Amino acid sequence: MLDKINRIKEDASRFKAATQDELEEFRLKYLSKKGQLNALFDEFKTVAGEQKRELGQKLNELKNLLAETFEHYREALDSETETVRDNDLTRPGESIPMGSRHPISITRNEICDIFTRLGFTIAEGPEIEDDWHVFSALNFPKEHPARDMQDTFFITKNPDVVLRTHTSSVQVRIMETTQPPIRMIMPGRVFRNEAISARAHCIFHQVEGLYVAENVSFADLKQTLLFFTKEMFGEKSRIRLRPSFFPFTEPSAEMDVSCTCEGKGCNLCKGTGWLEIMGCGMVDPNVLDNCGIDSRKYSGFAFGMGIERIAFLKFQIKDIRMYFENDVRFLEQFAAAGF
Ligand code: DAH
Repeated sequence: MLDKINRIKEDASRFKAATQDELEEFRLKYLSKKGQLNALFDEFKTVAGEQKRELGQKLNELKNLLAETFEHYREALDSETETVRDNDLTRPGESIPMGSRHPISITRNEICDIFTRLGFTIAEGPEIEDDWHVFSALNFPKEHPARDMQDTFFITKNPDVVLRTHTSSVQVRIMETTQPPIRMIMPGRVFRNEAISARAHCIFHQVEGLYVAENVSFADLKQTLLFFTKEMFGEKSRIRLRPSFFPFTEPSAEMDVSCTCEGKGCNLCKGTGWLEIMGCGMVDPNVLDNCGIDSRKYSGFAFGMGIERIAFLKFQIKDIRMYFENDVRFLEQFAAAGF
């Protein structure tokens, strides 16, 4: 029996496997149920007492050697197969999980698309602004209470430097550098020093619209907004304009869109059948003049809407904080909305 053990030991230490088949042959010959190792263990049961110790030790050594040899070649051959696979240029690539757009981006893109179809172009302006572009040029007199309508973030000791509270500041920048006709929309992020709740946040998004040319009338404004609303919320939607006040428009209005409950009353519209979605009006002649546009020759309309609010209606979202929490369980639901 000792001879047998030594012979197998010698064979095993000389063994080399170049292929998986050779390794499998090795396994079958020595390590499988009917292999030589098991046969030796069977034989070991018949060995006389005084030889048991020595032979048992040898047998265990052989068992370890066979197992190690097998493991060694198995690992080597496996990594070889992997390399071959990595070099296979015809192998299909691993799929990358697709992300989805943020509901604010989806809504902003859709608003931009609709106005682009009407011939509006898109412009952007800085988030850190000066008093002139956010307030003064827009007809907010110094110390005027209308400035309190928008709680401003001042970010330096210089009260002239502010985070814009609305995208209307971009209107001013455009009109200062462009002569009519102007037909633009201006999406962007705005900042207000407000307590955060389900309905209000200190950061949110607006889209501003501006049309300045000869003979622009309130009827043009109304028709443009009606077109927008039907595209955004469906052919059945209706709009309602209520008189309002903004320093930079005269006359000014607030626009409501009909609620999907069709006036039957629901939580969203609090039973009124209408939802307020934007402010608008005819650009105040003072604003045109402040920006170097002749108010005797030109007139224009402007409007501004909150993207979060439009997305509330579009996706039935009830809490503004969800937009900013970056919870993937919330965000991945919009993959189906495409865009
Ligand atoms: N800037 C206003 C706000 O943030 C919204 C607005 C109202 C914009 C009327 C306009 C407008 O252009 O004409 O509340």
